[in-house]
Amino acid sequence: MKSKIGDRVSKLEQEVISFCYPWIFKGFRCFSPETGHNLAISSLLLGFCGGRKPWQDDPRLKINAMGLSFPNPIGLAAGFDKNAMVISPLSRLGFGAVEVGTVTPRPQEGNPKPRLFRLIEDGAIINRMGFNNDGINRVIGRLARIRNIHGPFKTKVHIPVGVNIGINKIGANPEKDYPYLVGMVSHYADYIVLNLSSPNTPGLRDLQHPSRLRKILAAIKDQHPAHPPLLVKLAPDLEEKEVEAIVETAIDAGITGLILTNTTISRPDDLQGDFRYEPGGLSGRPIRKKSTEMLARVARLSKGRLTLIGCGGIETGADVIEKIMYGADFTQVYSALIYKGPSLVQNMKQEIIEILSRENIQNISELKGVAL
Ligand SMILES: Cc1cc2nc3c(=O)[nH]c(=O)nc-3n(C[C@H](O)[C@H](O)[C@H](O)COP(=O)(O)O)c2cc1C
Repeated sequence: MKSKIGDRVSKLEQEVISFCYPWIFKGFRCFSPETGHNLAISSLLLGFCGGRKPWQDDPRLKINAMGLSFPNPIGLAAGFDKNAMVISPLSRLGFGAVEVGTVTPRPQEGNPKPRLFRLIEDGAIINRMGFNNDGINRVIGRLARIRNIHGPFKTKVHIPVGVNIGINKIGANPEKDYPYLVGMVSHYADYIVLNLSSPNTPGLRDLQHPSRLRKILAAIKDQHPAHPPLLVKLAPDLEEKEVEAIVETAIDAGITGLILTNTTISRPDDLQGDFRYEPGGLSGRPIRKKSTEMLARVARLSKGRLTLIGCGGIETGADVIEKIMYGADFTQVYSALIYKGPSLVQNMKQEIIEILSRENIQNISELKGVAL
C-alpha cells in the first residue's frame, strides 16, 4: 500500500515536471548555459526532479552486455556529471546506466568561460569545457560512498556506473596516466572508458592513432591485467581507414568495446544557431546521422567482437531503436536531456515499449544489427 502511494507520488512528480519543463527551460535560458547546468546539478543534489525510488523497467527493455545487466538501453553519456556528484538522483530519473567524468589525474579548471553554447534552433550544443573536474582523488571518494565501500552514506545505486577517464591539459603522460587512472577506478567502476576523442584537450585525439592506442592499451594490460570492462570513446571525425585500423587494434588488445561517438568538430551547412561557429565539439540532433554511420561502419568491421555503445543525437525512443538496429548493444544520451528535461528517459522508454508491442518483439536486443 505504502509503496503504491510512493509510486503514484513519483509518477505525479514526474508528470508535473514534464508539464512544466518548457517553462523551466525558458527560465534557465535567463542564465548562461553553464550556470543553468550548475543549477540542474544543484536541483538534483537537493532531491528535486528525481523519482523517489528506482524504476521498475519493463523486462523487454533489459540489456545484458559486457557481463553487466542494464535495466533499459538508455545511459547518460559522460560530461553531465563530471564529478560523480549526482549518480543516485540521476539513476532515479530512469537511466539504464550513468557514466561519470571525464575525470583526470589532477583537478583542473578547464577552458576560460564562456565555453558552453546552446544552439536552440538546431537542438544542439557546442562545448569547449576542457575537462573541468575535481581530479581522481575526490571523484573516487564520492564513488566509494555510492558503492558503500566506506563512509557514512548508504546511497545504493541499482544501475551500472561507468567512469570516463582522460588526461590533464598540462603535464600529461598518456602511457602513464591512463594505466594510473584505470588502477584508481577499478574498484569503483562497473566499466571504464578511455576518452581519447574530446576536441578540447590539445593532442588528445591523436591518441586514437593505432600506434599510440596500442601503446596505451598495452601499458594498461601490463600494469592492471584484471580490470572492469574497458571501452574507448571515439570521435565521429575519423577517416574510414583510421576507423578500420582502430577496430583491429581494439580487438587485438582484447578491450571490451567502443563508444561511438563523442562530439564533432565539423559544422553541418544547415546549422542555424547564432553560436554555430564557436570552436568546440558539436553535439545533439545535427550529429545523429554522422554518429550512426560511424557506429554502423564499426559494427560491420567488428562483427560482434566488440561491445558497441551508440551515442550522438538521440532524442526519442525511435532514435534508440535506430542505434540498436545499426549495431549498438547499448546507447547514451546527453544533449536531449538539456532540451527535453528530466522526463526524457521515461518518455523514450514509453515510446520504445509502444514500438516493441506493435512489432511483437519480446526484447529490444532482438533488434541488434538488423539494419546492417
Ligand atoms: C557540455 C558537454 C560536455 C561533455 N563532456 C564530455 C566529457 O567530459 N567526456 C566525454 O567523453 N564526453 C563528453 N561530452 C560528449 C557526450 O558524452 C556525448 O558523447 C556527445 O554529447 C554526443 O551525445 P549527444 O548528442 O546525445 O549529446 C560532453 C558533451 C557536452 C554537450
